[in-house]
Amino acid sequence: MTDDTRIATDTSTSIAISTSTAPGIPPCDADRCAAAGCTPTICVGAGLASNHEMFERSKRAIPGGVNSSIRAFKSVGGEPYVVAKASGATITDVEGTTYFDLVQSYGAVILGHAHPAITEAVTAAVVDGTSYGAPTPREMKLAEAISERVPSCERVRLMNSGTEATSTAVRLARGVTGRDRIITFAGNFHGATDALLVAGGSGVATLGLAGTAGVPDGAVAETMVVPYNVVPELDENVAAIIVEPVAANMGVVAPVPGFLQGLRDACDRVGALLIFDEVITGFRLGSGGAQAKYDVRPDITCFGKVIGGGLPIGSIGGRADIMEHLSPLGPVFHAGTLSGNPLATAAGLAALDQLTEDVYMELMARARHLAAGMRDACAAEGFVASFPVVGTLMGIVCGSDAGIVRNFDDAKRTDEAAYSAFFQAMLAEGVAMAPGAYEAIFVGVGHTDAVIDRIIDATGRAARTAAAMLGS
Ligand SMILES: Cc1ncc(COP(=O)(O)O)c(C=O)c1O
Repeated sequence: MTDDTRIATDTSTSIAISTSTAPGIPPCDADRCAAAGCTPTICVGAGLASNHEMFERSKRAIPGGVNSSIRAFKSVGGEPYVVAKASGATITDVEGTTYFDLVQSYGAVILGHAHPAITEAVTAAVVDGTSYGAPTPREMKLAEAISERVPSCERVRLMNSGTEATSTAVRLARGVTGRDRIITFAGNFHGATDALLVAGGSGVATLGLAGTAGVPDGAVAETMVVPYNVVPELDENVAAIIVEPVAANMGVVAPVPGFLQGLRDACDRVGALLIFDEVITGFRLGSGGAQAKYDVRPDITCFGKVIGGGLPIGSIGGRADIMEHLSPLGPVFHAGTLSGNPLATAAGLAALDQLTEDVYMELMARARHLAAGMRDACAAEGFVASFPVVGTLMGIVCGSDAGIVRNFDDAKRTDEAAYSAFFQAMLAEGVAMAPGAYEAIFVGVGHTDAVIDRIIDATGRAARTAAAMLGS
């Protein structure tokens, strides 16, 4: 027993109960927090009301001040705004500045921030507990909802992130086929999965080079990287091809006609499995995802983002005979303390419930409207950029050298300095884009036509500033 801890004994159970007087979570600044009504645990940053102050303090607690490295402003310069709250198409930082948000949690928030359907579902669900470690009705309903909308997913296993989905899909494919080799495409991103964090990106196939420190050569020894939009030659060592059916991590790049069907045929020829990573495209391109749009049926599909309504989630779905290799039915292990989480499934069900065909039609129209408006606004100011659209997804490619982008080599011709200048100018005009030249632009239900028109207006002013900064 320590000096500052008194131990009381509950006589009915004889369990020692700590009545420690330790301070718990302290306020950021006792006076300022109290004055602003900001509580220490539901902290919205009122006690340290500057992005800089908040970020400096974060950096002392969190490596780089961010919990996902792509949130850092390393490639665009400056420091991130620190978000206090968000609503619909907007986010507001701790300084009280509100931005139109084109990040939308990198695609997880398709209904717009704090959509009433999500907040009501989560608020209703939370009072019944936040995690049980036992099956729940909502996880059954979400799995059913995914299967109904994506017929290739005869069985669905829920988990906690897109990264967990891709790593589980790779393990499952290897377990089912008894083979080790995985084919992936340069410029595709599948999360922080060791076997898929592989160096690549040139126009030729590369095998087994780690893409980051900390990944042992052995983890990627059987991962081959090949150029996107070219069907690779496979042999019978290949367990699976994993592909973003629309690439959305090197800008937004559509599959060329025949590419996805070519992958299907190549896999079938050698008995390999085809994995579609639909973490971004799933329930964003439409309720059937990219596989419905391009009419190609994968063996395994990875989901994340939209299916959690903005809460942490991931899932894999696939043919029943393949999915039943997962434990406890089969030998391929998968487990997770928070898998099928009751709050994430409530939010996910609420999101899918809202996403009717009419909503997808509307989102497509908005993506086209925003892309055309931004393109024209940039052109009018002499800032060279193109804005590819695939269904509801939109990208940006800066600079005159890029041309049409079909693969990572093309994508790398984007002018990163021009993007950084445009990014900073847009932020100054009140529009938040992702701090990286290869990220998608996410249009959601919150982006009404009026919001899009204001973003287009801001684009013209930002393009003028960026062009001036670049001296063009
Ligand atoms: C295509 C794709 N797959 C997988 C992932 C990893 O998902 P998560 O960030 O939920 O782990 C991402 C993340 O952006 C992604 O874009």
